[in-house]
Amino acid sequence: MANISDSYTFNNGVVVKNRLAVAPMTHWSSDENGHATEDELNFIRPRAHGFGLFIAAATAVNPQAVGFKGEPSAMRDDDIEHLKKIADTIHSSGALAILQLHHSGKDRQANANNPTEVVAPSRDTAKQAREMTASEITQTIADFGGATRRAMAAGFDGVEIHGANNYLLQQFLSAHHNHRTDEFGGSLENRLRFPLAVVDSVQSACKDNPQFVIGYRLTPEEKHEQGLTMSDSLALVEALAQRKLQYIHISLQNFYNKARRNADTNRSRMDLFYEKLQGKNVALIGVGKLNTPQKAIDALNTGWTDFVAIGMGVLANPDFGERVASNNNQGMRKMPDLSRNAAFNQMPEAMFNQFLGFVPKPVLAVIRVTGKVKRLFGK
Ligand SMILES: Cc1cc2nc3c(=O)[nH]c(=O)nc-3n(C[C@H](O)[C@H](O)[C@H](O)COP(=O)(O)O)c2cc1C
Repeated sequence: MANISDSYTFNNGVVVKNRLAVAPMTHWSSDENGHATEDELNFIRPRAHGFGLFIAAATAVNPQAVGFKGEPSAMRDDDIEHLKKIADTIHSSGALAILQLHHSGKDRQANANNPTEVVAPSRDTAKQAREMTASEITQTIADFGGATRRAMAAGFDGVEIHGANNYLLQQFLSAHHNHRTDEFGGSLENRLRFPLAVVDSVQSACKDNPQFVIGYRLTPEEKHEQGLTMSDSLALVEALAQRKLQYIHISLQNFYNKARRNADTNRSRMDLFYEKLQGKNVALIGVGKLNTPQKAIDALNTGWTDFVAIGMGVLANPDFGERVASNNNQGMRKMPDLSRNAAFNQMPEAMFNQFLGFVPKPVLAVIRVTGKVKRLFGK
């Protein structure tokens, strides 16, 4: 069984110093060109300390891909010098820098301010999305390759293909979202075609650099009747392993969640993926509510994963990575402190405002007063 402080050597020889990854987190804070701001770099810098891998926020591969206001861009060559700031910041804190490559498809946030049409594998009137044309599909596949080339030029150690969280790649894989009648829709083989073509495009963009790490993030199941099941996702994982990716990252709300359908529902999804990858020399990353050092250690000790990724834990506790070294679980927050401001939480204003936006105003007023009273009494 691995210790959290053990190094890991990917199948391409790249060594990661420990088993901890910062999960990709959108921050709504790049400028209007998708270029890194000081706010964004200040968010990354403390949080990368103590982590082996830092997976940077979802980053758009072309104009249609943008799903958030302030989303970083890797769609143009003049993005490279700005992406370099992100890679350098991560490196200055001692982690390997991975850029997450993203296309939102029809799952665009309402305030994304993106003037392009919404596109998806199939028309979806509720999301005002139209079906992607064959040439848009070809172009988008190429754009993932272009973004990979830029990530490499910017000094990133690798890319993570965002195939999770309902975005474009998942929309293609899911029979619930994909009703195409061409070679990209219908059978599982056809629904796998687009995500796997993206993988091939990314691999071909870095074929002269075998040390460049490629990961793929996926969401294993959907609740809809025609939605993804474990058997779809296990087939995807098998195909990714054949392509000798360095890692597969399973996006879960809770690391311990059990399979829903088409697999042994008494077993956790992570356990089933780990079993599938036995002997295939592809690393697995697990994530979901591992918001203290002890929970991260316990998850690794299940033996179902090679790495644990941390989202909210490190968002709310920027010193998370350093805490793991001494297993210091004292006084940790589950959420940013909403009774204080963005600067107190070492977060960009726009990101902090997203959290405030989830809380009804009267509740926020109570949180602020309670926070003040607690501080007054030194609690
Ligand atoms: C503020 C925020 C932004 C996120 N942005 C991304 C993202 O850009 N890409 C992605 O794949 N997941 C994103 N996620 C999901 C996280 O990577 C992670 O999977 C999820 O938060 C569960 O892990 P946790 O319980 O440790 O937070 C985001 C989560 C949060 C809280």
